[in-house]
Amino acid sequence: MNPMDFKQLTDLKTKEVPKQLIPAIGKRWSPRAFDSKPLNEADLSLLFEAARWAPSSTNAQPWRFLLARKGEAMHRRIVDILAPGNQTWATHAPVLGMAWARTLFSGKDSPNRHALFDLGAAMQAMMTQATELGIYGHLMGGFDSDAFKALAPEQEAFEPGVCFALGFPGSADQLNEPFLSRELANRNRLPLSDLVQGLEG
Ligand SMILES: Cc1cc2nc3c(=O)[nH]c(=O)nc-3n(C[C@H](O)[C@H](O)[C@H](O)COP(=O)(O)O)c2cc1C
Repeated sequence: MNPMDFKQLTDLKTKEVPKQLIPAIGKRWSPRAFDSKPLNEADLSLLFEAARWAPSSTNAQPWRFLLARKGEAMHRRIVDILAPGNQTWATHAPVLGMAWARTLFSGKDSPNRHALFDLGAAMQAMMTQATELGIYGHLMGGFDSDAFKALAPEQEAFEPGVCFALGFPGSADQLNEPFLSRELANRNRLPLSDLVQGLEG
């Protein structure tokens, strides 16, 4: 039986998020339980459009992605490079992906110190667009870095960023512990006063 319906879970996950934030930022969170329903290809393209329009240092756009749908051989290969804890739930996600950053500026062979920063901006744009479409994403840094490097079809110098799962939210009762408890846990953040100097009020 579903321990909590998705509306209740969303309320719990967003309890401490200020209501004034735009919904696509305020409602995003990282689920482990995904519905098996596939994502529509037009929506998938839109997610990568959102990433494409992120800002980047000198407009170098160092982000690169690979995605695979459940049932494709590459989906299995991505599962295989994940840390065991991530494999447990990510294997059920309808879409898995890899995101990396080219670490040299094209044609210059000089290092792009901001490449991973830019990739992070692109991923956040993707997650924001996903939330707008009712799609959820879960980023994963828990993977074997050498295996990532071997699997990524990249000819240039690059740094692995994250693997990611995408899909519509599913029922939490498909999860076992400790993932079920994490799925049903409150979300929290450091206070602004720990993060920002110079804010008034
Ligand atoms: C770079 C990065 C790496 C992450 N790696 C993992 C991971 O390996 N496994 C996992 O379950 N979640 C991972 N997460 C998700 C975070 O745990 C999650 O974003 C954080 O706890 C805040 O929760 P929220 O996304 O629901 O707001 C990662 C997130 C980021 C940005």
